[in-house]
Amino acid sequence: MTGMTMLRVENISHRFTGKDGPLDVLDRISFDVAAGEFVCIVGPSGSGKTTLLHILAGLVTPSEGRVWLDGTPVTAPGREVGLVFQQSNLMPWRTVRDNLALPLELAGMTAEARYAQAERTLDWLGLSDFAAAFPAQLSGGMAQRVAIGRALIYDPRVLLLDEPFGALDALTREQIQLELLRLWSNSGKTAIMVTHSISEAALLADRVLVMSQRPGRLRAQVAIGLPRPRRLDMVHDPEFGALARQIRAHIEAAGGYGQAEPA
Ligand SMILES: Nc1ncnc2c1ncn2[C@@H]1O[C@H](COP(=O)(O)OP(=O)(O)OP(=O)(O)O)[C@@H](O)[C@H]1O
Ligand SMILES: [Mg+2]
Repeated sequence: MTGMTMLRVENISHRFTGKDGPLDVLDRISFDVAAGEFVCIVGPSGSGKTTLLHILAGLVTPSEGRVWLDGTPVTAPGREVGLVFQQSNLMPWRTVRDNLALPLELAGMTAEARYAQAERTLDWLGLSDFAAAFPAQLSGGMAQRVAIGRALIYDPRVLLLDEPFGALDALTREQIQLELLRLWSNSGKTAIMVTHSISEAALLADRVLVMSQRPGRLRAQVAIGLPRPRRLDMVHDPEFGALARQIRAHIEAAGGYGQAEPA
């Protein structure tokens, strides 16, 4: 269910200053996301999608513009927003339980309290049997589930996902897409996910935002009115095909994918 505007992205521009001089990465990006909405962002490699998510999470301060969460400006990382990074970034020497509970440990929570919370999250993710396993013992899909769990540990209202399934094989990816949809629809969370896959975007999202090549601008928005719950076989429906073609046309009009491979 979608409701009132929860996240407002207002005229965001960003410039990195590096050794080789300034680099304009984002150019006047504005959009609103409703509470409970699932938004996917697609666009060429290097168009600033990760930077945009980091700005939404309060990890990067934009050169211009502002992000509002429920009417309050986002100025630092907070518990309302969980971020799943482009790599799972699990610490190999920590168990699944301790990887999940890391944010709680950093916040100074007692072992008992953080394990109780980790246990609940593991249960939610169907990973209870792997609490004591180390990341090397997990499949790629499980490692990404743990990374999602770590982002959910504070029960944030907004979940940001940066190409979370890019490294997974096709079948694992389909399975975890459905799991994410189930998690999202049961929790009422707001989700914003970057992906390179047009079909993934159309399958998951209520709305797909298409970005241009760098400096990333918002080139188009495609509303995905497919019924929910979504099913994998919907990708064979004519409506799905028409939406995917529409997204692809916007990407091509925006200058294509750059170096990245569309899936
Ligand atoms: N901390 C930084 N300092 C300087 N330049 C940066 C920094 N982070 C990213 N960039 C540059 O900003 C541009 C946008 O990077 P970003 O990672 O946001 O793109 P992206 O759309 O996520 O790309 P991809 O699809 O490949 O993940 C790139 O040219 C990158 O090299
Ligand atoms: Mg990126």
